[in-house]
Amino acid sequence: MSDRLEGLGAARRHFQVSGGKGGPTISFPENMKILLVFFLLHLPIGNLGQSANKQSNYVLIMADDLGIGDLGCYGNTTLRTPHIDSLAKDGVMLTQHIAAATLCTPSRAALLTGRYPIRSGMTSLHRIGVYIFAAGSGGLPTNETTFVKQLKEQGYSTGLVGKWHLGLNCESSEDHCHHPFRHGFDYFYGLPLTNLRNCKPNAGNIIIVGSRSNVRTVVQATILALCVLLLLDLFHLVTVPWRALGFVFLAVALLLVVVLLFLSQFRNINCILMRNRRVIQQPFSCENLTQRMTSEATSFMERNSDRPFLLFMSFIPVHTALYASPDFLGKSRHGLYGDSVEEMDWSVGQILASLERLNLSNRTLVYFTSDQGAHIEEISDAGEVHGGWNGIYKGGKATNWEGGIRVPGLLRWPGVLTAGKSINEPTSNMDLFPTIFNLSKAAMPRNRIIDGRDLMPLLLGEVQQSDHEFLFHYCNSYLSAVRWHPRHSSSVWKAHFFTPNFNPEGTQGCFDTHVCMCYGAYVSQHDPPLLYDLSRDPAESSPLTPTSEPRYHQILEAMREAVDKHQRTLTPVPDQLSLNNVIWKPWLQPCCSTVWEHCHCDNERSRSPALDGNTD
Ligand SMILES: *[C@@H]1O[C@H](CO)[C@@H](O)[C@H](O)[C@H]1NC(C)=O
Repeated sequence: MSDRLEGLGAARRHFQVSGGKGGPTISFPENMKILLVFFLLHLPIGNLGQSANKQSNYVLIMADDLGIGDLGCYGNTTLRTPHIDSLAKDGVMLTQHIAAATLCTPSRAALLTGRYPIRSGMTSLHRIGVYIFAAGSGGLPTNETTFVKQLKEQGYSTGLVGKWHLGLNCESSEDHCHHPFRHGFDYFYGLPLTNLRNCKPNAGNIIIVGSRSNVRTVVQATILALCVLLLLDLFHLVTVPWRALGFVFLAVALLLVVVLLFLSQFRNINCILMRNRRVIQQPFSCENLTQRMTSEATSFMERNSDRPFLLFMSFIPVHTALYASPDFLGKSRHGLYGDSVEEMDWSVGQILASLERLNLSNRTLVYFTSDQGAHIEEISDAGEVHGGWNGIYKGGKATNWEGGIRVPGLLRWPGVLTAGKSINEPTSNMDLFPTIFNLSKAAMPRNRIIDGRDLMPLLLGEVQQSDHEFLFHYCNSYLSAVRWHPRHSSSVWKAHFFTPNFNPEGTQGCFDTHVCMCYGAYVSQHDPPLLYDLSRDPAESSPLTPTSEPRYHQILEAMREAVDKHQRTLTPVPDQLSLNNVIWKPWLQPCCSTVWEHCHCDNERSRSPALDGNTD
């Protein structure tokens, strides 16, 4: 184990001295206690505010693939989300909160590091933009700094409940080089990868859905080629070596069998639930999963109520495969999707109730967001809509139309933030990083570029304008759009350099490929770029022209300059989503039983709530 982790272990042991429940308790010499009390009593008054800040807790809640139009506070009238809405009522609602990426893996990397994910190598150059196997070798590099690490160093307890999706192993099945523990968390209960259709029996197969169109093309091409050969052979134009061809077919068939065998095991090998470093349920069961996660989150806060903590509640819903427990099943007006949103809302309510019960509400900053817009192409095999709603915004997940990146952004901190305030300035999920650093009076890292901006001045009303003059919108590794909110202006210009080709035409999604792609024939290039004024046209319905907007050329020129300047700040880093880093590597496969038992285990049946942290 690395020095770093041992350091964390030491910090943990140190905590047990003062507040640990269970485990070996070393008692502090009495005179040391007196000294400590003496020291605390004599802290200069000026530091009180600071230490109050230092003691504040953070509960960060992230939904997966939730659309901004799914929430009551953002205008939905038929889905019931009273608990999430209460965050808007009791806190600040951001109406132009922008995800730094359009897919889970890069967006989450951006949140934790405060940087565009291209800086950490967490963006893809090819078709696959996220990790799809638990046994891939890429992940968030440990030379990245996260606010979690920072808080950990300041003595916080740091728990992650839910989805990680930022890698696991590098060289062996238990090196855990990308595990949440390597990024500052000291407690983890959740999925190292993500939820996928395959994770629930009979909910479909994402690999087949995702490559449907390719499979169709290959089959069609093969049949066509065979017909042509047959004709040529019949008319004696060529002599086809049928025998050799037969062998080729045999080999292909064999390969197909292997692939099908692999697919049949997909759920076992990728749908994994871990507690800390141990796989506890493989494959995980969706049964009561949201309830289990909720009780993990609330007991984490209870265990840590006497010390500062950060809880990252990274929901598994509302990504497919959708599920809901009996209390919610069939209760919403929007099918299983709605049920799943409403159960997640219940869970948020439980977390808020726990804070209240523990008397921590006033000392806790609660943040709610989604990793990107709703995945509108999610239609179940039975034809049911399993993707969310992006309101008036165009497109969805995997696009840089507003529907893909404008996400809910709610912040509640009673006594600090004005209740019921709404802010329509551009903000980003990368802003959490500097916000938390500044709140905890930590010095911002000097050896790297942080793209996020401290949210507090805006939230507190000390400034009216966002510090984000420009935001760059990446589609995987490709810069696809830029947003400009000029100083002392209410305009928000957005220029698209390319946009995805929706298919079928007339829809707002890429239904042929299940997610939109970022390159080649999947996109249309725009030169000049498509320019919109989001302050007047947030739905991006009518692009501006030199006649409709007299400043058209100047605006584009300013944006081009900003892009140049931004691109000069990028430095080459290892590609964590290269094909080599995303493919399945059997030797990295977490497996909680023998291979002959199909990597199957279930320790959730005998659940005990006595959970220790980073000890194994
Ligand atoms: C509310 O959300 C559901 C589910 O995503 C969606 O179908 C519906 O259109 C939304 N309603 C409104 C008024 O936005």
